[in-house]
Amino acid sequence: MEYTASLVQLHIDEKLQEKRRLALNNGIPVADDETLQFLLVTLSMTKPLRILEIGTAVGLSGVAMLQACPSATLTTIELEEERYLEAKKNFAAFGVTDKVTAHLGDAGEILAMMDGQYDFVFLDGPKAQYEKYLFDLKRLMKKGATLFADDVLLFGWVSGEEETPQKRRSIVEKIRSYLSVITGDTDFITSVINVGDGVALSVYKGK
Ligand SMILES: C[S@@+](CC[C@H](N)C(=O)[O-])C[C@H]1O[C@@H](n2cnc3c(N)ncnc32)[C@H](O)[C@@H]1O
Repeated sequence: MEYTASLVQLHIDEKLQEKRRLALNNGIPVADDETLQFLLVTLSMTKPLRILEIGTAVGLSGVAMLQACPSATLTTIELEEERYLEAKKNFAAFGVTDKVTAHLGDAGEILAMMDGQYDFVFLDGPKAQYEKYLFDLKRLMKKGATLFADDVLLFGWVSGEEETPQKRRSIVEKIRSYLSVITGDTDFITSVINVGDGVALSVYKGK
């Protein structure tokens, strides 16, 4: 909603804001202000120590998350090499390299090989794969962990408020399927929230 979006004031440092502006101008997909604000609010409430991010882009959401949670470490996965390399530069520029494990490759393949227990997951990679990732994410999430899945309403197409262009119908169906599975899964408690481009916020209750 335009009014609520107009109330967003991101209290992040100017250098990070400038990097976000630059990235957006260069066509890098970074979380919009409203979504980032909600992500930072959620992190401030949950205070995770181990964060997993799918979809690093150039590392700016990762930096923002680590600034909001100074005691946390971040594991993040990116498919595109150019973005991964830029993210590594950004992690160094913001002095967080020691807290970050950055993986280059396909999240589906990397998640399947990962172990460890995370208490916060920012799911912001390929939307069509969200449901497929759930199997490994459940294995990697602690009881009580938060799963923050971005872009689940996708320009109003998923809710049907806006007509979906023909070539985006398949991705919209896959997101609907993710929402149906995650809201119906009794191992989670989930709210779908109309903030930014839509967020599905889930808490893992454990099996
Ligand atoms: C929306 S962007 C991430 C934005 C970032 N989290 C931020 O807010 O600054 C999604 C990213 O996921 C990456 N991606 C796409 N497919 C992927 C895959 N199969 N595995 C890992 N990353 C992927 C894209 O290259 C893109 O950089």
